[in-house]
Amino acid sequence: MAKKKDSYSMIWAILSIIVVFVIIKFVSPYVFKILLKKDHAMPTPSTLMLWYMILGVLGALVYVSTSDLKWASFLSFMLPTEDDKTKKLLQKMIVIAFPLLLGWFVYSGTVPGTASPVELRIQHPTLLQKYEKMENPYSHVSEDLKLKYIEEGKILYQHNCRPCHGSKADGNGPFANAFRLRPINFTDPGTIGTVVESFAFWRIMEGGPGLPDGSTPWDSAMPAWEGTLTDEQVWKIIMGEYATAGVVPRQREEME
Ligand code: HEC
Repeated sequence: MAKKKDSYSMIWAILSIIVVFVIIKFVSPYVFKILLKKDHAMPTPSTLMLWYMILGVLGALVYVSTSDLKWASFLSFMLPTEDDKTKKLLQKMIVIAFPLLLGWFVYSGTVPGTASPVELRIQHPTLLQKYEKMENPYSHVSEDLKLKYIEEGKILYQHNCRPCHGSKADGNGPFANAFRLRPINFTDPGTIGTVVESFAFWRIMEGGPGLPDGSTPWDSAMPAWEGTLTDEQVWKIIMGEYATAGVVPRQREEME
């Protein structure tokens, strides 16, 4: 006679596979967070997850086939006797759940996601000819006037750009986390510090929509400000933006 537990071995197998899934998916990230002393959870990579689940299913199958009796009671779920009401109910549940589960896997595998594009993105494409010769008309003025423009620019910056680029120009505005391609941190010396002012002018005027192909595997949320801000306002914002970030624009090399 098979033990009571054995006669429900299919349910036990399914339950243990679910438990393995829950442990790997939800428990282990926090266990590793504590063990490795990280400040964030450590999710299991999906390929590793797949392998663990395959091993879990194989392990369960090996267990239920260790004896003829176990195997027979495992399979008996497929053809329960008429009088066994519980088994019949469980069998129905399995028969309904299996296609649903399979459908869910196929759906979640094919539904369009928000994965990062694989191509690299060119952050600083070649400056368009239209902007190449442009000079900031507000930067070659007396020191007093320049300070006044910078102050005006800082205010305009806080008004228009802070939501994304942050009040300290460090790319940590309240909206910043909503974008996968984060707003630029201007205090990083590798960003606006490496371009001439007319480059910043181009990027502000034309934003994400004005970027050439090499820069668009990732969609940029940077708005195009042409039509919203005047040229004067943008030049002043540029001055305020550099001042807020504490970096200086690249200077043009003198032609021989
Ligand atoms: C909706 C959010 C958002 C707002 C508002 C916004 N930006 Fe951006 N900005 C971005 C994102 C995202 C990027 C990075 C992607 C890119 O380079 O296009 C970016 C990039 C830039 C760059 C390119 C810097 C570099 O080194 O390549 C400049 C310059 C810039 N922003 C200036 C501004 C200014 C000035 C304002 C205000 C007038 C502003 N942005 C408002 C989201 C925003």
